Amino acid sequence: MKALAPRGLARVAVVAIAIGAATLPGSAQNGAQSDVQSVVSAAFSKYKDLQEGKNADYIPALAHVDPKMFGIAVINREGKVFTAGDVNTEVSIQSISKVFTMARVIEEQGPEAIEKTIGVDATGMKFNSIVAVEQAYKLAGGPEMNPLVNPGAIAATSMVQGPTADAIWQKIIGTYNDFAGRPLNVLQDVYKSESDSNQRNQAIGMLMHAYGYIKQNPGQATDLYTRQCSVGVTAKDLATMAATLAFGGRNPITGKQAIGTGNVPYVLAVMATAGLYDDSGKWLYHTGLPAKSGVGGGIIAVAPGKFGIAVVSPPLDEAGNSVRAQKAITDIVNALNLNPYASKPSRARASASQ
Ligand code: DON
Repeated sequence: MKALAPRGLARVAVVAIAIGAATLPGSAQNGAQSDVQSVVSAAFSKYKDLQEGKNADYIPALAHVDPKMFGIAVINREGKVFTAGDVNTEVSIQSISKVFTMARVIEEQGPEAIEKTIGVDATGMKFNSIVAVEQAYKLAGGPEMNPLVNPGAIAATSMVQGPTADAIWQKIIGTYNDFAGRPLNVLQDVYKSESDSNQRNQAIGMLMHAYGYIKQNPGQATDLYTRQCSVGVTAKDLATMAATLAFGGRNPITGKQAIGTGNVPYVLAVMATAGLYDDSGKWLYHTGLPAKSGVGGGIIAVAPGKFGIAVVSPPLDEAGNSVRAQKAITDIVNALNLNPYASKPSRARASASQ
């Protein structure tokens, strides 16, 4: 994967975790905030000098971000933020935006709209695969994709209703703002750079239109998608967005309901199956948590009712996922016992077998 990094942006990798202390298992139970801070600090120290991976560069502006950038933030149910490293420098949100546009469409049109128009199945292919579009349309014969790969994401953006491009944009950015708890802005250098170099996404938008996934105006949908990918976020913003998903769609800092509580499980399900693209299975195998990556270097992960997690570190692996973010979050998940598939044997059965 070629490297990408917004000029003058994110200079530090960031991990952000939102934590519901009351439900925290193991040593961090009973809201032991010092334990949470220790886990975050330990992950930061362990990986801060790691040099694996490479900044993405197929969007030229992203090639200039400092690969050393690294930071961690943790937010609990009460809105308390635990941090390590740089949690205040903005990077472009990139594909993490897809989660929140999908959330907006589900909120406006119901979960069936995404399922029936785009699909909710993993492609097992790269995020900008055109073969995946062909396969879904010709072999599977319909909506057998998901809104977290580029074709499905551009289609999801096209589903946001509005009389003008600006009206649609206000809805998209308004949703992101509610999740982040502050007004976010487009990083213009990233937007321009991606607009100048996104011929592949323009082709994908056209193809999705040709196959009927996008009903009208594919060029506008691709442009709005490019804009949404260029929104600047800090690690703390990403942690807050993850935490909002972790706590029933309500922002734990502002108290604002960003999406209906009943819609959150649909969003998390697609993140679990497709959030890290062709490495989604590997990710789930090691963490058990729904997550989403972006080529700006961010990853968010959500432990429902317990933690929201976000990491930013620009160097990526071959699948386009941040190397340090994956490692740091995996350590944190393990240290705090957040894998929902990890259970304890039943006491009744244990005594019955003795
Ligand atoms: O459309 C693109 O290629 C980028 N704006 C976003 C891709 C991305 O973030 C993939 N994530 N890991």
